[in-house]
Amino acid sequence: MTILAIDTSCDETSVAISDDELILANVISSQIQLHRKWGGVVPAIAQRAHKERLEPIIKEALRRARVKLNDIELFAVTYGPGLAIALEVGVAKAKALAQHYRQPLVAVNHMAGHIYANLAKNKYGKAPIQKIESPALALLVSGGHTELVLIKSEGDFTIIGQTLDDAMGEAYDKVAKMLGLGYPGGPIVAKLAKTGNPYAYDLPIAMKDSGDLNFSFSGLKTAVLYLSKGLIDNSHDRRLSKQQIVDLAASFQRVAFESVKLKLTQAVRQYGVKQVLLGGGVIANTDFRRAIRVALKPLGVTVIYPNLKKLCTDNAAMIAVAGYYQFQRGEIVRHIAKLDRDPIASL
Ligand code: KG4
Ligand code: ZN
Repeated sequence: MTILAIDTSCDETSVAISDDELILANVISSQIQLHRKWGGVVPAIAQRAHKERLEPIIKEALRRARVKLNDIELFAVTYGPGLAIALEVGVAKAKALAQHYRQPLVAVNHMAGHIYANLAKNKYGKAPIQKIESPALALLVSGGHTELVLIKSEGDFTIIGQTLDDAMGEAYDKVAKMLGLGYPGGPIVAKLAKTGNPYAYDLPIAMKDSGDLNFSFSGLKTAVLYLSKGLIDNSHDRRLSKQQIVDLAASFQRVAFESVKLKLTQAVRQYGVKQVLLGGGVIANTDFRRAIRVALKPLGVTVIYPNLKKLCTDNAAMIAVAGYYQFQRGEIVRHIAKLDRDPIASL
């Protein structure tokens, strides 16, 4: 089945074409340059860029996949969660296409997309896994979410733990901002952390003894803020040294990893899962993936993550694959005209 998928949930305009789970094209147009000077995503700017770029990106994806719009048998679109006015652009376009070409439409949850990125096949037909072995667990960590999802069977998702405040990616971005490192902070902090001493500073592991599977990252972020302020006050030139910056990055990252590992191992034990599927932008961090693999090794579970960085961060290929599975389950949009975006959609 030839699928065209669209994701305009945040600051990436993406269109993918797939043949079932086989990805034929996955075009991503990042708006990072547009938002950088504001230090974060500006919704109105994101919406305008999606509007300008969506049409040419659809054309480019079709060209790369050597497919025509007439050949598309299923349209898939992210309806939420995300920025309302950004989601709107993709949803309106997908509705118009499905109606014009008289083909079915599936409305995909963006977080489900991050899970199904693990089932996306590359041009050699290879995917990290061929199927989900339930019960499985998904750890989704992005700029807007930090969630532990129990997968009782394919398509049956229950959130068993989540952040009570900031998402992990958001904490990276805010720490980067505090340390004057630029935007988006995740990749920058992760890179600097490689040369720092992760034990240089003592930072709090939030929710350690909460007894549940929830997370919190706002206390850690604030602790880094006060720590860096104190270091600045005690410095000769009122700035952080290069060494202090890399040590702060490494210490922040170690503690962020610790809090995730703690709840993840707890969840694996509690639910006796066979697979742990990773997804979301922060999973692009190879040190994070390694830390998770090491932590879960003694528990005998398989840790799975997308085989490409661009399948960890926002992309439409993951929406095509999730859409394919959704179509198999018969979950298509019955009244296309009535479909609306849902910025706070939950799994
Ligand atoms: O999934 P994603 O592309 O968009 C959302 O749905 O939010 O995730 C973006 C987040 C940002 O916060 C970014 O800083 C973070 O993922 N990120 C990283 C890395 N690459 C992206 N965080 C840590 N290490 C990285 N290498
Ligand atoms: Zn995302």
